[in-house]
This record gives sequence, C-alpha cells and structure tokens, in this order.
Amino acid sequence: MESGSADGTNMRDTILVTGGCGFIGSNFILQRMQADATSVVNLDKLTYAGNPRNLESIANNGRYEFVHGDIGDRTAVRQLLTRHEPRAIVHFAAESHVDRSIHGPDDFIRTNVDGTFALLEEARAYWSGFPEQDRQRFRFLHVSTDEVYGSLGPNDPPFRETTQYAPNSPYAASKAASDHLVRAYHHTYGLPTLTTNCSNNYGPFQFPEKLIPLMILHARDGKPLPVYGDGKNVRDWLYVEDHCEAIAAVLRNGRASETYNIGGWNEKPNIEIVETVCDLLDEMTPSGKDSRRSLITFVKDRPGHDRRYAMDGRKIERELGWKPKETFESGIRKTVRWYLEHEEWVRDVTSGGYRQWIAMHYSS
Ligand code: NAD
Ligand code: TYD
Repeated sequence: MESGSADGTNMRDTILVTGGCGFIGSNFILQRMQADATSVVNLDKLTYAGNPRNLESIANNGRYEFVHGDIGDRTAVRQLLTRHEPRAIVHFAAESHVDRSIHGPDDFIRTNVDGTFALLEEARAYWSGFPEQDRQRFRFLHVSTDEVYGSLGPNDPPFRETTQYAPNSPYAASKAASDHLVRAYHHTYGLPTLTTNCSNNYGPFQFPEKLIPLMILHARDGKPLPVYGDGKNVRDWLYVEDHCEAIAAVLRNGRASETYNIGGWNEKPNIEIVETVCDLLDEMTPSGKDSRRSLITFVKDRPGHDRRYAMDGRKIERELGWKPKETFESGIRKTVRWYLEHEEWVRDVTSGGYRQWIAMHYSS
C-alpha cells in the first residue's frame, strides 16, 4: 500500500472525522470534499442522530470512506489510524441534545467523556510513533460548545476563551470534561490539539429534536410549537456552513494547544426564532388559515435552563480571519426551504427512534 506524500511526511492527506453522519459532521464532510483534495474517513456509531443518507451524494467518491464504529472501541480506532495514516482527527462524535442528557445522562458520559478519552489515548499512541517533523504537523481538533461556560446575565459580555468553565447540564458537563482531557493531553504529552467552542448551529441535516427544525416541522404540520418557559432564553445562532468553514480555518492555521470561540454575533430570544419560522412558513406555504404563530404554546421550562449564551469571536477573526458570512435572515430562509424541499429525508429521520423519544418526552 502506498504510504507517505511528496513533502516527505509519513502521514497522508487524509483526515479522520468522528461523528460525520450527524448534523455538523455531515455538513463539514460535504463542504471539505468540495473545497479541497483531502480524503476523509468517517467513523460513526450511527446512533439515532447519525444518518448515513446525509452523505449519499459522496458515498461512491474514492476520497471518502465510511466506517461504522464507536470512538470508544480502541481496537477499531487503532486499526483505522494504522490503516489510513491521517494527518488530523476532527472529533465531532458526541451525544449532543441537552434534553436527552437530562433524561438519561449515561450515554453522554460514555461517549463524550470515555469515548473522547479512548480516542485521545489512541491518537497519542499513533502520534508518538511519528518522526519529529510529523509529530508537529499532526492535529487533534476537538469540536466543542459554548455551553461549557454556563449562563450569562443580560448585561454580561459574551464568553471569551478565558471565561471560566461553569457547565450546568449533564451535556455541558460532559463536553467540559472532554475539553479538559484534550487540554491535558497537550499539556502533559504535547499532543498538538485544537479546541473549538461554538454557539448554536442551524441549517440542513439537523435532527428535528433541536429548536429550529422541530419548529419548522411542527409548524408545517399544524402541530403545537412548544416554547420552554417564557421564551426569552437567548442563544447565539450560527449557520452550520459558517461553523464548518471556521473549523477548517482552525485546522489549517490554528495554533496547536489553542482554543477558539466561534459564534454568529447573532443573539436572539427563542420566541423571536419561533415567530420568524412561523412567518416564513406562512409566506412559503400559505395555509389559508390563521398564522402559524397561533400554534405557539408555552410549556414547562427545561430544568436548569441556561438563560443566555453569546460568543466573543474576536480571537478567531483576528488570528485566522474568519467571521460568519451568512446573515440570520438569509440562513433561516435557506433552512426553512431546505426542510420543505427534503420531505423524504424528514420522513426517514422522523420514523423510529425519534417518534419514541417524542412520545416519552412529551407524554407528561
Ligand atoms: P449530532 O447529535 O447531530 O451528531 C452526532 C454524531 O455522532 C452522530 O452521527 C452519531 O451517530 C455520532 N456518534 C455518537 N456517539 C458516537 C460514538 N460513541 N462513536 C462514534 N460516533 C458516535 O451532533 P451535532 O449537532 O452534529 O454536533 C457535533 C459536535 O458539535 C458535538 O460534539 C457537539 O457537542 C458539537 N456542537 C454542536 C452544536 C450544535 O448546535 N449542534 C454547537 C456547538 C458544538
Ligand atoms: P436546543 O436546540 O435544544 O439547543 P440548546 O439547548 O443546546 O441551546 O434549544 C435551543 C433553545 O430552544 C433552548 O433555549 C431551549 C429552547 N427550546 C424550546 O423552547 N422548545 C423546544 O422544543 C426545544 C427543543 C428547545
């Protein structure tokens, strides 16, 4: 088997992506396959959130390979690293839904903490065997969230890379733990790590348990739109393709061991997001009846619900020249249209596990 590349490195122009069948991972892979000549190996366990159909369009591309497996399976990870000799690992795989973490945190600890630990251990063993030149070039990029910083008051400045961690949900705590492990693997062993902490994403392929796709599909179908609490919790929304470009920029030029906050400079209360979705559906698929806004139903709040998130993205802009391209107005319009035009995808993901979850979650 051919090994090495023209510039003398033993690593190939291949990246190992974990969790690439999920929302952000599949957008990232599709974008990268278009943007450059890198090969991608995608390791995904295919939990309820993983949908290989997201990557149907590249399934036969010689630069793409899907491997069904768990990041916690160290033998499988070791074999993959030895076989593909990647120059980087981009680690998306996680349990990612706060509400699920409240009802059943076990999987969050297993994948986000133990799984990340297993991946780091195998990455360290793989990387330790390199000659010095390759050791410096290798990257372990860990994709994380703004939720590790906890909740902001109405007048607090946005989260910076130096903001103290204060995770409030089991999801946020599991991601914070994984961030700390990544940090320690650089500090202790010298593994060239990068960590990105990003705000709420929206766009194509997002599983309809999260706010925006859930509201689009409920509004389309004339179902109640469950807004938690008073609807005034604030999130900083970023279009997913912007997030993927930010990750690519960090992978290319980020300084090893650094963390980069990524956000949309786009803080909005939930109720405003839901009203916007309603108005877009009224415009794109007029129902002839009342506005979809009449479907808005305030429901019991999420326990421990963080009030406000906002990201200070000045470091990544200053160091790497990245800032979001999409405005919220254009991004949300594209997103609503995408869900309306991808009925088959929606049918696929809303059958099975998703329905059971909804039944369990909303039965009370
Ligand atoms: P997602 O839930 O849509 O996808 C997660 C993917 O990981 C799925 O394909 C799933 O099958 C896979 N996976 C889960 N456990 C696995 C395991 N043990 N081994 C291998 N694969 C496994 O998540 P997402 O929204 O695409 O988020 C991706 C990453 O980005 C996560 O680490 C998340 O914490 C982070 N993040 C998400 C957001 C957001 O708004 N969605 C914002 C900031 C950061
Ligand atoms: P979500 O998409 O679950 O992301 P996160 O909790 O990671 O921020 O939720 C975004 C916001 O929307 C959050 O404040 C919770 C709220 N929300 C609702 O009001 N109703 C819903 O049905 C959902 C899923 C979320």
